[in-house]
Amino acid sequence: MTRKVQHSLLGKAKKNKNDEFYTQLSDIESELQYYKSHFKDKIVFCNCDDPRTSNFFKYFASNFKELGIKKLITACYREQEINLFNNKEVENGFFFEYTGVEDENNIVYFQGDGDFRSNESIELLMQSDIIVTNPPFSLFREYVAQLIKHDKKFLIIGNINAITYKEIFKLIHKNKTWLGIKLGRGISGFIVPEHYELYGTETKIDSQGNRIISPNNCLWLTNLDIFKRHEDIALTKKYYGNEIEYPHYDNYDGINVNKTKDIPLDYKGFMGVPITFLHKFNPDQFEIIKFRKGNDEKDLSIKGKCPYFRILIRNKRLQNKFSDKKVLIKNNGLLSIEQTRNVQQNIGSQ
Ligand SMILES: C[S@@+](CC[C@H](N)C(=O)[O-])C[C@H]1O[C@@H](n2cnc3c(N)ncnc32)[C@H](O)[C@@H]1O
Repeated sequence: MTRKVQHSLLGKAKKNKNDEFYTQLSDIESELQYYKSHFKDKIVFCNCDDPRTSNFFKYFASNFKELGIKKLITACYREQEINLFNNKEVENGFFFEYTGVEDENNIVYFQGDGDFRSNESIELLMQSDIIVTNPPFSLFREYVAQLIKHDKKFLIIGNINAITYKEIFKLIHKNKTWLGIKLGRGISGFIVPEHYELYGTETKIDSQGNRIISPNNCLWLTNLDIFKRHEDIALTKKYYGNEIEYPHYDNYDGINVNKTKDIPLDYKGFMGVPITFLHKFNPDQFEIIKFRKGNDEKDLSIKGKCPYFRILIRNKRLQNKFSDKKVLIKNNGLLSIEQTRNVQQNIGSQ
């Protein structure tokens, strides 16, 4: 019996081990440098952070004046369950308010554990303007849903795979959220607790004795405007003349593009691109049409084989150049397939 319980606890701890990846100050600084203008006169809330150890707290407290922040609130969750890894007496969660002067009296204990979903924590969320943190990975969907429900500005860390969650992709599709600047190896690594086993090459112990693991699979997700979102992807390849490199899908009227840098500059129709496209996405240049599925609602396929998740997009700039209507009138009637292709080619060469 004991053995069984221990197994299930270990399983749970293993499953949620990413919840204990703590963010390094250097990674916070390297992303936050692009958002400085957003924080003036704002209340910032880090709702999954122990102010005694969180580098998000450290970053905002030490840049408080420079950023012109009105108030910083940092809330610490305290797990109420006593288990193999947590055999201390349970304590309530608490939050700390910082207005530029450190004062221990600003610590307030919650009645409960400080869960970001609790009414007490939501009350703080509602008072705040921008939420910035690295939330528990296992609760990512719920975490984002709460931010959207309360119409909050945010900048958070998540796993790259989160893009493929239908709830998150829907938000990206509706332009309610987008990727931040750093992604994958751009986020150098996370501090992990003592009991976390370091294995593989992507681990180290830093000069301060912190155990660091670099999963290289994380991203920043935000709804704060950033310059990158307004920069066009430089397109150099052409579809016409290189059709063989861009096979047509079996179940969708579109072509497959394996790398974002290979998106052809002259293709007006639908194109399936890898999810990393989103890191470069400028909504003025491209329109996101659909995710992953063809007309039959099965995964997009080429001669029966499915490439890894594709996002269907269309080049907006080419749609605007000439309207099809104009071309039809000019030609005094309907175009043949050959004529249509020529028109597309001409548009591509403009
Ligand atoms: C991935 S760690 C990141 C910690 C910190 N935000 C950072 O970036 O260093 C997630 C944190 O969320 C806390 N946490 C877990 N479940 C939570 C919940 N339901 N509500 C609030 N915080 C939670 C964990 O204790 C852990 O400190």
